[in-house]
Amino acid sequence: MASEFRRTVRGMRDLINEEAENLRFIEQKARKVSRLYGYKEVVTPLVEHYELLAAKLGEENRRRMFVFEDLGGRKVALRPEFTASVARLVATKMQSAPRPLRLFSIGSLYRYDEPQFGRYREFWQANYELFGSNKSEADVEILALTNSLLKEIGLKSYFFKVGHVGILRSILSHDGIAEEQQNSIMQLLDKKQVDIALETAKNAGSSKSSLDTLETLLNIKGRQSDVVISEIYEAVKSYSEALEAAGNLSEIITMLKAGCVDADLLVEAGFARGLEYYTGLVFEVFVVDMDIAVGGGGRYDRLIELFGGGQVPAVGAALGVDRLSLALQKQRQISQRSEERRILVVAVESSLFGQAFKISNMLREKGVIVELEVMRRSVSKALSDADRRGITHVVIVGSKEIKQNMVVLRSMRERTQEIVPIEHLFERIMQ
Ligand code: HAM
Repeated sequence: MASEFRRTVRGMRDLINEEAENLRFIEQKARKVSRLYGYKEVVTPLVEHYELLAAKLGEENRRRMFVFEDLGGRKVALRPEFTASVARLVATKMQSAPRPLRLFSIGSLYRYDEPQFGRYREFWQANYELFGSNKSEADVEILALTNSLLKEIGLKSYFFKVGHVGILRSILSHDGIAEEQQNSIMQLLDKKQVDIALETAKNAGSSKSSLDTLETLLNIKGRQSDVVISEIYEAVKSYSEALEAAGNLSEIITMLKAGCVDADLLVEAGFARGLEYYTGLVFEVFVVDMDIAVGGGGRYDRLIELFGGGQVPAVGAALGVDRLSLALQKQRQISQRSEERRILVVAVESSLFGQAFKISNMLREKGVIVELEVMRRSVSKALSDADRRGITHVVIVGSKEIKQNMVVLRSMRERTQEIVPIEHLFERIMQ
């Protein structure tokens, strides 16, 4: 057999030690935030019909799907995101669920992206969708929830890039440019290919004044949102629908600030996304010094209708778990968590294993992480191994001490040891 199989498939990773721990740490925080905001978890399949996943995903993303035919001849694909699956649920099994409907998902996704720093072919997202409200309050909730999660995991120095695809699209619609062509233009803007985007708009029939307006918009951005918003109003003053979209963006930002959400916002009038389903607010979260987005989302009011579920407005966000983990490592937030105690309990001789076992369980019941020596190694061997395993304290159960209800407690960091009564063991470890 070729040796190739000993390596993971390109773009796929094994997560070991801290990588796996970090994934679960972020997952646990993401689930906590979902509960705090009233989002119910749904579990959807990894494999879906290609047509469902491909709808409104955008040309670029569509080309990067893992597509195959199953043994029954169905054209299926591995999910590249959660939004389509959750929207399918809402359009079918959850059609009569009371609104608003708040749904949370977490799991692995698959995109045939070119592997590089923070870009994998299998990655994880924590995904939140809010259905049933077309009001700014819902957009604000999604932004605030995203901010809460980032705070909860201890991320620092991040900012939200926000825009509104309604502003750009309504200028293109004004000149009768078809949705398909608008999608290509949005895709080009997303990839920062501004000149080609404007050229495409021109060829599709954009008037001179619309092209000028688009060009002006593409240069409007900044952190002082009231200034940016008034510049947008000025730029689009002769386009009534674009004005309405700008008003919506302005309301979202004002409400967010009124709720004292102190997120750093970079408002960009020309910000577009490759995902075609977005109809309103769009945003991405970036970490300073990291060039890749750790999350993204926005409003998509027409996807459920496309899936036959009637008119259900929606807004959502997805956080990239792998990228959050990278950002935390970069900011050294994760290592601070390793303050926690890890205990190894060793019986000096096998007849004392029962006592060692009891002491381990007593500590575990108090929430302490305990490994028990199960290889009958000598204390010295177990101690030298404990260092490599990140053990902070070793409890040595010896016959002399145990007769007096005592054990030896060794601190691996300070290289000191003392004899401690079992009843005070927990307190000594936690000191
Ligand atoms: P997205 O912007 O395509 O949005 O992905 C969200 C996040 O997933 C990205 O910001 C990034 O952190 C992570 N991500 C995407 N691709 C990769 C990759 N190849 N490797 C590692 N991480 C990656 C969506 O997926 C939308 N469904 C979000 C949404 C939910 N919109 C409304 N509701």
